[in-house]
Amino acid sequence: MIKNRCVVVPRAEGETTRRTLVEAGLLATGLKIRADDERVYLPVVPDLDDRILAQVAPGRQVAECEFEESERRKTIEDLLGFEPSFEIIGDIAVTVEDYDRKVGEAIMAVHTHVKTVLVPVTGVTGEFRVREFRVLCGEERTTTTYREHGFVFEMDLAKVYFSPRLSTERKRVADQVTDMELVVDMFAGVGPFAIPVAKRALYVVAVDKNPAAVEYLQKNIQLNHVKNIEAVCMDAREVQLQQPADRAIMNLPHTAFDFLDKAFELVRSGGVIHYYDIRPENEIFEGIVGKVKARASECGVLIEVLNKRIVRSYSPHEYNIVLDIRITGKKGELD
Ligand SMILES: C[S@@+](CC[C@H](N)C(=O)[O-])C[C@H]1O[C@@H](n2cnc3c(N)ncnc32)[C@H](O)[C@@H]1O
Repeated sequence: MIKNRCVVVPRAEGETTRRTLVEAGLLATGLKIRADDERVYLPVVPDLDDRILAQVAPGRQVAECEFEESERRKTIEDLLGFEPSFEIIGDIAVTVEDYDRKVGEAIMAVHTHVKTVLVPVTGVTGEFRVREFRVLCGEERTTTTYREHGFVFEMDLAKVYFSPRLSTERKRVADQVTDMELVVDMFAGVGPFAIPVAKRALYVVAVDKNPAAVEYLQKNIQLNHVKNIEAVCMDAREVQLQQPADRAIMNLPHTAFDFLDKAFELVRSGGVIHYYDIRPENEIFEGIVGKVKARASECGVLIEVLNKRIVRSYSPHEYNIVLDIRITGKKGELD
């Protein structure tokens, strides 16, 4: 048994909290999660800053408990002597850095459903936020099918943006939507926010500027049998709605700020905007809340920040965050 710090939650919240910790890179690997009749005990990584933990799992009890080590299935580390960084999207593994072919083979040996291992040869770049890849081993392809919360998404990783690490966030947003809402997803990609949201909303307008993303978005709309959704290939700045939206999703973290004026125009007073950004660890929410409020004020809009949350770690010292913003008034209405 090993003594380790852990987050303690009621059983009903165990799975959601586990996912949240995994996506933030904070769940300790190699230790078995414990549970009793009432609570689940989730071990966290060593030397975790209390401030970060409080942001990722706000209000959660933190304790120190004994944990068993996980059973020793053969791991990639056993095979290679080190743990390569990668993520799995459908049946494709995407490594974080360039590796030797035997790394790809080890990933496929341990994760037997993985059919292809890709190495990015560029960063996530350009307006469409895409990467180029080289096949490290397995089948020569970049297309895959990914499942999340009962939905299915087809995509070509070389042509569209996709991150499996936003899964908890996508569910969090979809869960807030009610059946009378008109929702605009300003940067919809292949539809992982827009399609689950459409299952709950009155209507969704899903916009993306990348024609390949919109092609997959249309395909995914069919695959998931949603009808109350419109896929639009357009610059979000050009979007016109027939009536003001109740909610906007702005998942373009590096540049969403430049589109805030458009979101303020599209969303009605009382409506909500989910605003994403990338923030340095030493100033996660401090600067950005003020900046967003100042921008709102320049646009003649009053806002209230309902909620701020770390979505996931983005790089060693940066976090992907979300602000849920309510528009509380607009200039014309206040005069
Ligand atoms: C970070 S991705 C998010 C995609 C999707 N929401 C998801 O969670 O997978 C941002 C998306 O915004 C699109 N995009 C970038 N600039 C845009 C613009 N000016 N108007 C509309 N879409 C844009 C990109 O093509 C990309 O698909």
